[in-house]
Amino acid sequence: QDLIDQHALQGKRVFIRADLNVPQDDAGNITEDTRIRASVPAIAAAIKAGAAVMVTSHLGRPTEGEFKPEDSLAPVAARLSELLGQPVELKQNWVDGVDVAPGQVVLLENCRVNKGEKKNADELAQKMAKLCDIYVNDAFGTAHRAEATTHGIAKFAQVVCAGPLLAAELDALGKALGAPNRPLLAIVAGSKVSSKLSILKALADKVDNLIVGGGIANTFMKAVGLNIGKSLVEADLVTEAKAIIDMMAARGAQVPIPVDVVCAKEFSPTALATVKDVADVQDDDMILDIGPKTAATLAAQIAKAGTIVWNGPVGVFEFDQFGEGTKTLALAIADSNAFSIAGGGDTLAAIAKYAISDKIGYISTGGGAFLEFLEGKTLPAVEILLQRSSQ
Ligand code: 3PG
Repeated sequence: QDLIDQHALQGKRVFIRADLNVPQDDAGNITEDTRIRASVPAIAAAIKAGAAVMVTSHLGRPTEGEFKPEDSLAPVAARLSELLGQPVELKQNWVDGVDVAPGQVVLLENCRVNKGEKKNADELAQKMAKLCDIYVNDAFGTAHRAEATTHGIAKFAQVVCAGPLLAAELDALGKALGAPNRPLLAIVAGSKVSSKLSILKALADKVDNLIVGGGIANTFMKAVGLNIGKSLVEADLVTEAKAIIDMMAARGAQVPIPVDVVCAKEFSPTALATVKDVADVQDDDMILDIGPKTAATLAAQIAKAGTIVWNGPVGVFEFDQFGEGTKTLALAIADSNAFSIAGGGDTLAAIAKYAISDKIGYISTGGGAFLEFLEGKTLPAVEILLQRSSQ
């Protein structure tokens, strides 16, 4: 597909769709700015090339047509301005026209507040396409959404292309799943099987080793007949979990089931952590992490992997006494020679907590988009760019 650096941008009006949907605290301070930093190369390149640059993003999930102060990209404009070293004016009500000169950059207020954005309305997309000579999609994190700024506008803009972040994400994820160095090992963890069932099924077909963790692991443990006490579990998905284990076993691949776990009687930051063999778990126990024997075995498997895909912490790592499992696996990934990719909000928080970001092959800015790519789903925002470039 077309990339931004293949176009002459001097004097052109360039509309960049970025994903600047970053977490904020109650006072509106940005708590994690990876996505803003990741969006800088495309924006800086367009400014340097002498383009008049318009950038937009969604923030949160606001109600269309009802702008509230907390929906504003104002904190993002301030952070972007610091990173770019030049003013970034925030423009309200921008759909019918944007005043911006070559060499300048403006941030167009939360695009999801516009009526028709979520529904990918042609009328809105056409108006936005008229604002620019070139549309650049650099929002990998929103590539799984067909909305007016991620999909519709790309149907109507004169010239469309991918930005460097989108291209790098697709390249890294394609490399990990397309022709991976084997063994291919995936860690899929998190509280619920239901939210990750389709990715578990898709990976069960591809990977050599599928490490499950968190609440997901509890459901798999129950599926092999272990007592998981009062741990978080999805009883209706036990059969699905068993089917995944059997499917993997049938082709000589494995879903390692924990042999020991870290339990507590309650879910709290001060809960007392007790390491137990899985056979010793009591009815009033709650499993909140994998145990040290399991962590050591998994770390050894990670050390032998050729490619690692990581989504989700294997324990309640926010509480230190239940963080050892995640820490052991994180350090094993950091030490391994495998090509590793990681994605998802909790995973990024674990990477930050254990300070291993420079030891991961590629850290994705995608949450839902990362998972959908791993599932093998078509990302609508990418599909439209490919369609346009083949016309
Ligand atoms: C994300 O945070 O995963 C992306 O910004 C997409 O946000 P959405 O799930 O609200 O579309």
